[in-house]
Amino acid sequence: NFEVAGMVDSTSGLVDRAIFTDEGLYQQELRRVFAPSWLFLGHVDQLKKTGDFFTTFMGEDPIIVSKGKDGEIRAFLNSCRHRGARVCRADYGTTKNFTCTYHGWTYDLEGKLSNVPNVAGYDENFDTADWGLVEVAQIDNYKGLIFATWNPSAPELPDALGGAKYYMDAFLDKDPEGTVVVGGIMKWELDGNWKLAAEQFATDWYHVNMSHASALMVLSPTGKGPKSEIANTPGRQFHDEQGGHGAGFPTHPKSRFDAQKVHEHYDYGFLRERLGDATVEGPMTTGHGTIFPNFSYLPINGSIRIWHPKGPNKMEVWAWTILDKSMSPEVREAQRLYNLRTFGPSGIFESDDGENWSEVQSISNGFVTNSVALNLQMGIGSEREDGVYPGTTSELYSDAAGRNFYRKWAQLMDTPAWHEEPNE
Ligand code: FES
Repeated sequence: NFEVAGMVDSTSGLVDRAIFTDEGLYQQELRRVFAPSWLFLGHVDQLKKTGDFFTTFMGEDPIIVSKGKDGEIRAFLNSCRHRGARVCRADYGTTKNFTCTYHGWTYDLEGKLSNVPNVAGYDENFDTADWGLVEVAQIDNYKGLIFATWNPSAPELPDALGGAKYYMDAFLDKDPEGTVVVGGIMKWELDGNWKLAAEQFATDWYHVNMSHASALMVLSPTGKGPKSEIANTPGRQFHDEQGGHGAGFPTHPKSRFDAQKVHEHYDYGFLRERLGDATVEGPMTTGHGTIFPNFSYLPINGSIRIWHPKGPNKMEVWAWTILDKSMSPEVREAQRLYNLRTFGPSGIFESDDGENWSEVQSISNGFVTNSVALNLQMGIGSEREDGVYPGTTSELYSDAAGRNFYRKWAQLMDTPAWHEEPNE
């Protein structure tokens, strides 16, 4: 195990670049950051009826998520207990059971081993009850978003989300009927460490005017781009000290890219009554956030995404469009296309971000480059409780949530996880 306390100095705002490139640290991340944390799996709308399933990853572990005959949603390691093949190779579907294509062991929707070809070849000590799929320790959903953890002693999901729930409600709780998934899941690979993306969505508004100058110009109602009121609005950044989550958002009623058709759907009077003025004028705008470690969201786009780690130098991005259930088909389609054009794999904002992360990663293996610390010092000392937005806040243009993200990361990296603790 590597000690990382000296690599992340959240007080002075300095981060060692090796945390984005080192293979040994990456393996430790899988053990100590991903294995103990609540990780996003998908949306309940993906599992409407008995037998519906989808596959995903928790860290680099392949996962099946299925709806059982009892209506319960369960998540299992997608690896056969016989010789380890993937039990399910489909992205999603509906089934009665999962049959491994190597030798034919079959598991039911509850993960139990239900059929073994030539079972007579095993002796009397072989008990199928001992060889079911490995199941996650805890699974739950927050307003439709399914999370799971391998950690039996992790706090329950609502406690783990902590202060971030208020900010998530800005996109999950607008509609009393909840949210639905619209369109498929967009999946693409990027050269870049997963933390570059997760950190940016938690904290970085500083890049917006520069990196997205062209996109802002296209979308600005005035056509002035970064010099318009959209790009220079006041705002807040939030972070949850316990959980490592972060979010940033303008606090300006015009910072919503008003060309969107979705604004024809919203009854802002109703939303102000339901969620409060502060939410409608803040987290419901063009903000973005990260639920530690690797789930992020953009409320007004309806974009939710996960940054799957694929080694220290690569990530896989999976992005959904989720919208209010009561939206008309026309508004849903307009919003789906809007999200695709902005934050789809070749969206005008997404491609700016991906290019930045890949560019940073591409030069990070140089010996000297890798020994020069990165700067997350903006807004040091500005953290406060502002009496309007819950949790710890700072100005919109600040690295406060980024420093907190890495503080949480380092804390987990330097703490033995539950699976490393000796038996009592
Ligand atoms: Fe699955 Fe053998 S590896 S049945």
